[in-house]
Parts: sequence; C-alpha cells; structure tokens
Amino acid sequence: MIHTENLTKVYRMGDAEVHALRDVNLEIKDGEFIAIKGPSGSGKSTLLNMIGCLDTPTSGSVFIDNTDTATLNENELAEIRREKIGFIFQQFNLVHTLNAVENVALPMFFAGVRRDTRLKRAEELLVNVGLGDRVHHKPSELSGGQQQRVAIARALSNDPEVVIGDEPTGNVDTETGNAIMDILEGLNKEGRTIIVVTHDPEIAAHAGRTKRMRDGMVLD
Ligand SMILES: Nc1ncnc2c1ncn2[C@@H]1O[C@H](COP(=O)(O)OP(=O)(O)OP(=O)(O)O)[C@@H](O)[C@H]1O
Ligand SMILES: [Mg+2]
Repeated sequence: MIHTENLTKVYRMGDAEVHALRDVNLEIKDGEFIAIKGPSGSGKSTLLNMIGCLDTPTSGSVFIDNTDTATLNENELAEIRREKIGFIFQQFNLVHTLNAVENVALPMFFAGVRRDTRLKRAEELLVNVGLGDRVHHKPSELSGGQQQRVAIARALSNDPEVVIGDEPTGNVDTETGNAIMDILEGLNKEGRTIIVVTHDPEIAAHAGRTKRMRDGMVLD
C-alpha cells in the first residue's frame, strides 16, 4: 500500500516560491486502479514523482508498504524504483539509439539480469503489448502509440507491483489512448496497482477511483 502524510513540495525559484503540493493525504490500496485529474499546474506530476521516488518532498512523507521513504538513502530509493515501481511518461522517454527490445531490456541491465535472459523477457513483454513484429525498430521508426507500448513493456520489465503513468495517453490519439488504457486495465486485473494522471474524462473512466487536484491539493 502507498500513502502520503501531509506531503508538501515547495519549489524555490530565486525569491519566488511555488507550492506544488500542499499537505496531501492520499491512500492507495494494493491492487487499486486510481486516476488523478486536474488542471495544468495543479501538482499532478509532482505528486507522481514523489510517489515514484523520483523526487523528494519538502515536508511530509510518502509511505510505501509502511516504509517512510524519507528515511531511505539514495541507494535504497533506487532499489524501490527498480523493484517496485514502473514509470510511464507522457513523452515516452525511450532511448533513441536503442531499438525496442533493447529499450525494454535496459532496466533489467541495471538490475543485473544476464543478457540472454533480459533480451528474451523483453521480447515476451513486447509480444504482450502487441509489438512482437517491431522488436528491432528504433523509436523513430515507431508510431507514438507504438512507442508508448514499448514504454509500457519497459515499465513492466522488473515485474513491478505498482505502475505509474503520467499522462500515458497524452500524446496519442483517442483510439490508441483507449488501447493503452485496456493494457493498463489488464495489468490491474493481474493484481498490479495502477496510478494514472490524465486530463481526459474518458480515460479516467477506466479507473476504479478518480481523484481531482487543484492548486497542489487533492480534492474528492
Ligand atoms: N522543477 C520545478 N521547478 C520549479 N517549479 C516547478 C518545477 N516542477 C513543477 N513546478 C511548478 O509546480 C507546479 C505543479 O507542477 P506539475 O508539473 O506538478 O503540474 P501538473 O498538474 O502535472 O501540470 P500539467 O497538467 O501541465 O502536466 C506548477 O506551478 C509548476 O510550474
Ligand atoms: Mg504534469
């Protein structure tokens, strides 16, 4: 389970302060599929980055399986990111010089998985997202929706309990967006926790629960 306690993030830009998150208290149960909506600048990405241990709070805490992540050092945080969490970004964030199967295998490289094992698993993951015929394509040789499916396969490479998507359908058309949400729903049915940020109510409708953010606060 993931929960936050009075999670606060203040960005300081010279003399100015931006309160990106204000005392957020949110609980996400294991196996839940939650969508977070809210206008641009309301703090959605900031919240996901904190939950995904990509960034640290100004005050307050993120708890993952009852561990206060604020007590962990950089190595321990990296281990949580590697073992428990898969991240999908709006801009796909694939490595452009690597082909699909190499992109998907990359987190397994960092986890110390041997080469033949990681390439085999990466190929299986690509087959599962419908890209078995595109494994040797570079990102520039794939459509936006295909690139996002490579990114989903990559997020699954270390078999994470939690999949976090920051507008995973933001750069694809509606039909492809729905196909991506179908994949996430399937992952949720396997028992994984899914946390997705979206502007799109149709996309949010795939989730079991929806939360709204405004001005750094999580509303109902
Ligand atoms: N690294 C940063 N430095 C300074 N301010 C930041 C930084 N990252 C985000 N902010 C500010 O924090 C606030 C929340 O940003 P955030 O990216 O979380 O919004 P968002 O809800 O994800 O918006 P969008 O829907 O446009 O992606 C914004 O006002 C933003 O300008
Ligand atoms: Mg954002």
